[in-house]
Amino acid sequence: MNKMSEDIFLSPKKKGRIAIFLSGRGSNFKAIHDAIVAGFINADIVLVFSNKKEAPGIRIAQERNLETLYLNPKDFPSKEAYDKAIIEEIKKRNVDLICLAGYMKILTDLFCNSFKNKIINIHPALLPSFPGLHVQQKAIDWGVRYSGATVHFVTAEVDMGPIILQAAVPILQDDTEETLSERILKQEHKIYPEAVKLYFEGRLEVRGRRVFLR
Ligand code: GRF
Repeated sequence: MNKMSEDIFLSPKKKGRIAIFLSGRGSNFKAIHDAIVAGFINADIVLVFSNKKEAPGIRIAQERNLETLYLNPKDFPSKEAYDKAIIEEIKKRNVDLICLAGYMKILTDLFCNSFKNKIINIHPALLPSFPGLHVQQKAIDWGVRYSGATVHFVTAEVDMGPIILQAAVPILQDDTEETLSERILKQEHKIYPEAVKLYFEGRLEVRGRRVFLR
């Protein structure tokens, strides 16, 4: 047994303070925020952070009167220095959970280890198949019959943390990257808010690689 398999973590039952990290369009951020506004998730979004100044998701956050923060990676001497600055901003705001929602920058080990069991991500494939980028096209090209979406905890190993929820979708014969992405995205918008809800209901128990729903 490796060390990871001995660790047990139970998510907190409380009104959560969430930070969203995004680099683009922000549809998953919107789905989570909509679910909060609808009273489905017991939490507030206390920060929407981006490494991209012009990310459409940042504009949406501003329209929704949420606090936003952009830090330019080029203003920092190293990836570690950049992530250190973000860690400070997160700690200042007493954030309970960081939701990566299309954040297109790999987090340093330092960052991941600073927020163990407090970072989750959505990935547009059924992990551990198809980690990385352009995974909808990769699933089509491989010829798999099903792909889908995965919400998982973030560890230093990219796309490999314990899996919280998954949703499968069929791959159709005439699918293109666009049509498959759209079908998967619909599922992303369901399972990401659901996972955040479960988190702050204190119902996610992580035992090694496995997440049990309590
Ligand atoms: C989604 O497909 C998500 O699975 C991946 O990045 C994309 C972000 O889309 N991690 P959006 O910005 O949430 O619309």
